[in-house]
Amino acid sequence: MKVPLAKPIMTEEMVEAAANALRNERLTMGESMFKFEEKFAAMCGVNHAVSVNSGTTAIQLSLLAAGLKANDTVLTSSMSFVATANAFVAFGGVPAFADVIETEYTIDPSKLEVTSDTKAVMPVHLYGHPSRMDEINEIAKDAGVLVVEDACQAHGAVYKGKRAGALGDIGCFSFYPTKNMHVGGDGGMVTTDDGDIAELVRRLRHCGRKSQYEHDLIGYTARLNSANAAVGIEQLKMLDKWNGQRITIASAYHSRLKDTEGLNLPPQPTVDIVPVYHLYTVRTARQDELRAHLDEAGVQTGVHYEVPIHLQPIYREMYGYSEGMLPVTERLCKEVLTLPMYPEMTGEQVSYVCEKILEFYR
Ligand SMILES: Cc1ncc(COP(=O)(O)O)c(C=O)c1O
Repeated sequence: MKVPLAKPIMTEEMVEAAANALRNERLTMGESMFKFEEKFAAMCGVNHAVSVNSGTTAIQLSLLAAGLKANDTVLTSSMSFVATANAFVAFGGVPAFADVIETEYTIDPSKLEVTSDTKAVMPVHLYGHPSRMDEINEIAKDAGVLVVEDACQAHGAVYKGKRAGALGDIGCFSFYPTKNMHVGGDGGMVTTDDGDIAELVRRLRHCGRKSQYEHDLIGYTARLNSANAAVGIEQLKMLDKWNGQRITIASAYHSRLKDTEGLNLPPQPTVDIVPVYHLYTVRTARQDELRAHLDEAGVQTGVHYEVPIHLQPIYREMYGYSEGMLPVTERLCKEVLTLPMYPEMTGEQVSYVCEKILEFYR
């Protein structure tokens, strides 16, 4: 049996929606783009959603719109995809990293060190698991700094009755094809209740336009294409159902694997916290061996992430970072292993993966 790590869904309805937008709408700034934004804002429970061309751009433009500049520090997690930090390093922002909670993979609030240079805290809801937002918001509020969620892996996740994207001042999403929902290509979204920030992001993504031929900002060409937005509308309709399927698969993994000595499983949903298992990532001291065993059995796995952001060559070079700076993050990167997870994964496939893991530990 072959089991892939992820499997993006593209139905006939989605293809048809894209074709329809291509035939009948303006190709950029078409009606699908605005409709998608409206529906995404409603899903998150925020006043504004502004679409852009990637998750990286969502982070970059929202920070710029919130007034961040070169030399301002953003305090975030190094246990993430490199784009989390690239998004602000690209405009001269300075990264600072807090270590993570071993069992949740998200920022440990007790490790947050806000300094006078810190202008934003950016928790990453890694693998679809919401960060400890109450504590993070409180620390940020006391320090007078902004909270920007990197919700690129957490579409629809719930924390104490609110959705990711509505848990800080600004939320940033990616629609990269393997995410819990996509747009048939690259795309991203900024969510916020702040009308001024939303308006500035709208202008920054649209060449800094004040009016059609007047530009009073240095902006970017960073719009979401109409055809991609049309796919996004159809995907969004399925999000809760797909997330439910992911949760069912996570629960099946949990019940089969929970007693395996040497294998640590991700947190399960609670009354307060509903993770959406963008990735189902376990921890094992035998990362390489288990990976090779599963590979041989036709089960694709991933390591998210082999190299934490601060140890990426460019970050070492730019900031002089080295091993030992973030002990939990660094150890986790050597232990994490992502198992196959996608809504259409069958019970048989889940059983097969579990059997192969149990076989390995036997
Ligand atoms: C946590 C995280 N942040 C940022 C990004 C960047 O998103 P994109 O690839 O759409 O630019 C991604 C996704 O790829 C991500 O997983």
